[in-house]
Amino acid sequence: MATILVTGGAGFIGSHTCVELLGAGHEIIVYDNFSNSKPEALERIKKISGKDFRFVEGDILDLDALDKVFDENKIDAVIHFAGLKAVGESVQKPVEYYHNNITGTLMLIKAMRAHDCKRIVFSSSATVYGVDNPVPYVETMPTHTSTNPYGYTKVMIEQILQDVYTADKDWSIVLLRYFNPIGAHKSGLLGEDPNGIPNNLFPYIQQVAVGKREFLGVFGNDYDTPDGTGVRDYIHVMDLANGHLCAVDYVLAHKGVEAVNLGTGKGSSVLDVLHAFEKACGKELPYKIMPRRAGDIAWCYADATKAKELFGWEARYGIDEMCEDGWRFIEQNPNGL
Ligand code: NAD
Ligand code: UFG
Repeated sequence: MATILVTGGAGFIGSHTCVELLGAGHEIIVYDNFSNSKPEALERIKKISGKDFRFVEGDILDLDALDKVFDENKIDAVIHFAGLKAVGESVQKPVEYYHNNITGTLMLIKAMRAHDCKRIVFSSSATVYGVDNPVPYVETMPTHTSTNPYGYTKVMIEQILQDVYTADKDWSIVLLRYFNPIGAHKSGLLGEDPNGIPNNLFPYIQQVAVGKREFLGVFGNDYDTPDGTGVRDYIHVMDLANGHLCAVDYVLAHKGVEAVNLGTGKGSSVLDVLHAFEKACGKELPYKIMPRRAGDIAWCYADATKAKELFGWEARYGIDEMCEDGWRFIEQNPNGL
């Protein structure tokens, strides 16, 4: 069993991954500045897992604080979730996004290198496939364009990590390209808890379901898709969390750098998700067709073959379970964590 530093471990995907890591017997140290999460998430991880762990409140931009964590603990590998992730906000605040995500990652790499910890799993995104590649997205496709600063931070950090490996073949790096993580832990204790008005489809639907928002705005119904609304590869956050367990095992046992999609390989439209959620919560959810959202594409789904070949991983849950679990969480926590 290994000791894993989890940056951003109080966040949506990080917290669910901590549950999986603890369940598998790993030791974890969570490092987060709560810029987009709450301490309560850590209590929920403890409650679900029945285990305690170290937490350090700190910023990945703070090299001294990172060095201290590595000085005080023998860390075998890092899972690096910490980052800002709101696409629209990144267009308004490019400097803050580039600084937080890219400089923060450079600081982390420096601290890791200084302590001879050279195994990292990085949270990348399907957004690196840009707008020109055909679906399904395969890891070998070119990834050097984006439509927004957030997406460029993922493109650039992937490049930085590739270059780190080129310079020093002792590194072991997995770039996980997530598709659209939704759903929640089965217990209803952990789930997504965005600040303010949700940017993403699933938390918005959740808030309509508990009466916090009047209706869902569907961003365009004139795409070249079966029902005209955008198609995405939604993946249950616990499947995603389990993919991190596989990636950690992989970096502990191999050297090199690998980009790996974490998706189901299946696409669902906005209306498919809405109707599945209606089934889960047992009520009709109002929606209105709105104009397209700038930067959106019609289709996005994964070729999920590589994750199966490399890790033996594949998604277990379908859209119905994602909605059932997402409904349980919001019903039990209508005001978040
Ligand atoms: P999240 O905002 O819930 O979690 C990110 C965590 O990082 C938060 O707890 C936040 O407080 C912390 N953080 C941010 N900046 C920090 C800093 N400078 N120092 C320390 N902690 C910091 O987001 P999430 O949905 O859990 O996403 C986790 C990672 O996965 C992010 O890197 C995100 O870009 C990536 N990702 C997310 C999605 C998605 O749809 N949720 C898709 C693709 C990739
Ligand atoms: N949508 C609506 N109404 C809403 C919100 C979203 O109709 O209120 C639609 C969008 O137009 C899109 C689909 O629902 O067709 C999914 O949108 P999300 O905002 O939930 O997710 P995106 O696919 O746009 O983006 C997500 C993450 C990004 C990541 C990207 C690719 O938010 O961080 O997946 O992985 F980069």
